[in-house]
Amino acid sequence: MSVLNLSDKLRREVDAVAETAGYLWQKGWAERNGGNITVNVTDAITPEIEAITPLSEPIPIGMTLPHVAGKWFFCKGTNRRMRDLARDPMANASLIRVLPDGAHYQIIADQPVKPTSELPSHLSVHNYLLAKGSPYRASLHTHPIQLVAMSHTREFPKKDVLTHILWSMIPETKAFCPRGLGIVPYMMPSSVELAEATIRAIDDDYDVVMWEKHGVFAVATDVMEAFDMVDTLNKSATIYRDARAMGFVPDGMSDAQMREISLAFHLPK
Ligand code: 13P
Ligand code: ZN
Repeated sequence: MSVLNLSDKLRREVDAVAETAGYLWQKGWAERNGGNITVNVTDAITPEIEAITPLSEPIPIGMTLPHVAGKWFFCKGTNRRMRDLARDPMANASLIRVLPDGAHYQIIADQPVKPTSELPSHLSVHNYLLAKGSPYRASLHTHPIQLVAMSHTREFPKKDVLTHILWSMIPETKAFCPRGLGIVPYMMPSSVELAEATIRAIDDDYDVVMWEKHGVFAVATDVMEAFDMVDTLNKSATIYRDARAMGFVPDGMSDAQMREISLAFHLPK
């Protein structure tokens, strides 16, 4: 029996992950197994789910994260495809529980699918969010083509240079991604160093950070919100690219026009 028979709330979380995975594939941001999603689903766990015998022995996370101890996460499986996650989420992701030591986890259901190789980054971020008392429960890593392309030059990835260009391409970008785009210099995928640098960038007050020459990592209340922020930023990157392809450098909205947006939407920056 699938764990989804035990909790309507968990079913809704899994459906949202599957829907988002489908969008990532359709966008062309999820070549092969590219990208990953994790959601803190602790609120959806019933006593029946708590009583399930784990499918794995304790597995080390690679770091100790006290605030995720005892919490439950729905995680895309490593080497699994977003297009398969969209079609059959319970065969391409798994429900895990972090042990009370905050250093190990066990796979609980539905199948012994090993979580994403980026688990150190995802769990570090959830640990950070829980410590802060944040309502954010979802984290998303994906490979959005135009945003990643823009990280391939020294011109843009300086603090807030890219943010300013992206905000100025279309008014919605500042309104719906008001913290902009943080930058994490290139680091080895899946590494603890990348996880630590991601926390530092998020702590610098960003909801979306660029992993230079790799992808983006976004956090939000739910997975669809995280997707929408990345989609909005990538739309701006595409407008920028298209203007350049038409042979000119886009003017962008003026500072006064952007200030007007900040006032209208009560934005922090
Ligand atoms: P996983 O298949 O392990 O989730 O890795 C995909 C990825 O994008 C790594 O950065
Ligand atoms: Zn990646």
